[in-house]
Amino acid sequence: MHLAFVLGHGPSQHSIGAWSLPRAYRGFHYAQPAFWEHLARTLDRGCIDMLFFADMYGVYDGFEGKMDAAVRYAIQFPLHDPAPLAPLLTRASTGLGVGISVSTTYVPPYMTARTMATLDHLTEGRVAWNVVASYGRNAAAQFNMSEELSKEERYLRAEEYMQVCYKLWDSWEPDALVMDREGLTFADPAKVHKIHHKGEYFQVEGPLDVAPGPQGRPVIIQAGGSGPGMAFAGRHAEVHFATSSSLDGMKEHRVRVNESARAAGRAAEDIRILWASSIFVGETEAEARAKDEALRAVVPPEGGLALMSGHFGVDFSTLPADVAIEETGIEETPGMQGVANMLLRDYRGQTLAEVARMYGNGMGGFRAIGTASQVADKMEEAYEASGGHGFMFRCGELPGSIADVVDLLVPELQRRGRFRQAYEGDTLRERLLADD
Ligand SMILES: Cc1cc2nc3c(=O)[nH]c(=O)nc-3n(C[C@H](O)[C@H](O)[C@H](O)COP(=O)(O)O)c2cc1C
Repeated sequence: MHLAFVLGHGPSQHSIGAWSLPRAYRGFHYAQPAFWEHLARTLDRGCIDMLFFADMYGVYDGFEGKMDAAVRYAIQFPLHDPAPLAPLLTRASTGLGVGISVSTTYVPPYMTARTMATLDHLTEGRVAWNVVASYGRNAAAQFNMSEELSKEERYLRAEEYMQVCYKLWDSWEPDALVMDREGLTFADPAKVHKIHHKGEYFQVEGPLDVAPGPQGRPVIIQAGGSGPGMAFAGRHAEVHFATSSSLDGMKEHRVRVNESARAAGRAAEDIRILWASSIFVGETEAEARAKDEALRAVVPPEGGLALMSGHFGVDFSTLPADVAIEETGIEETPGMQGVANMLLRDYRGQTLAEVARMYGNGMGGFRAIGTASQVADKMEEAYEASGGHGFMFRCGELPGSIADVVDLLVPELQRRGRFRQAYEGDTLRERLLADD
């Protein structure tokens, strides 16, 4: 199995209110390096594949037409830039990889290619790029736009964006860097090329001003679940981050991913799936349940609704609490279609209020609560049935919920021969894409 954690570079993660629990961030400040170094060392002790940073720009201001809930409850706000964290995390660890989300809609491709190539050096080949096309009006409004582009256009841009990045990363031939002191030749000009890209959305002359790092290009991760999102995954994803709260949903999604890969002329196995997950592990089942309960107790009632408003572009304050989730108009969203599909499939018939309570506490996905052995049983079942490659854990209280996984669950998975005992290979790509 491959195991990763998803966080944002901020105080509040996918369980709204977790920051307020008495033991959360004890002895640490969420924005200071000591906290992140501590997390990196803990994750590394558990041989975890990757710490992945979800990211967005701006604030969710759709709920009640204002940003108050997002600001008050720290709903993905504040959110700091994750890219500068990458080398800090890898310097504090030996094998941990770092995934960074960057938007194809707002950041120029030259900048992304350059940042990722630079991080590939500074992390010594342990960086991944989560390619996001972004969503939300306020994000657009940070970048000279009064409205966001249509989803179709965002994906058309994203497609050309990838071509530009690939060309830039390939603008240096692998043996272009000579570093010949006697011959006074640092790089061979015959092996560094301008790219002269002229497309619908971008004009980029090249070359990239960063020589290739250990991986050549970052590991490409993608999470979109709409029609164009899945087609994009088929063409580009090495790892697909997916969410489903049921085994049937996982199987269905794996089939869609396989079809997308084949439609793009790739083998289904070329795309590895990590399932979004919430895990509560304790020494006893009662202890694990108490951790889940403690988290539920601090989710503010409006929090889940405000997060959903941000994710799906609907002001849920205008709808009755008892309306069924399938009646809320999210079957076609300008926001996260993959997540909306999961709600419509796995929570059909539940009321908006019920779904919002769940959503504010981890956003759904695969869940397991219990002792290490109980959780490992459920993970093995899902792993075997789903055709996935592993799990991406969402976090409750930090750093405690990460330490629980590393100190209780990982040894159990290792004992069962399901998880590595030590890091293999040199780069994140070698580890993350290694066969079972
Ligand atoms: C599990 C999951 C995690 C995601 N994480 C992010 C993220 O961190 N930042 C972001 O801008 N979009 C994120 N997205 C959104 C997608 O990258 C995509 O841009 C969005 O879902 C719209 O495309 P879609 O309709 O094809 O899903 C995520 C989606 C899923 C399903």
